[in-house]
Amino acid sequence: MIVCSCNVLSDGAIRACLDRGPACPRTPAQVHACLGCSPKCGRCARTIRAIMNAALGEPVHSCGTGCASACSLVKVAPTEEIAA
Ligand code: FES
Repeated sequence: MIVCSCNVLSDGAIRACLDRGPACPRTPAQVHACLGCSPKCGRCARTIRAIMNAALGEPVHSCGTGCASACSLVKVAPTEEIAA
């Protein structure tokens, strides 16, 4: 399925660049950069974030667990780090 129509990015391509390592993209814009493009209209950002959350687990908020999902302090951590 095409997730980003501006750059013709599929959900499979997005999942493929999420490697759980230290170079793993942490934001939708970093996913675009990983795939050799940049965000244009931004309409795909929420869907890319949802794919990231499904693949990597829910993000860990550096401000605590009670903040909204739109918190600017969100960081994506590997599952092993979340479990620790
Ligand atoms: S749909 Fe992804 S930048 Fe426009």
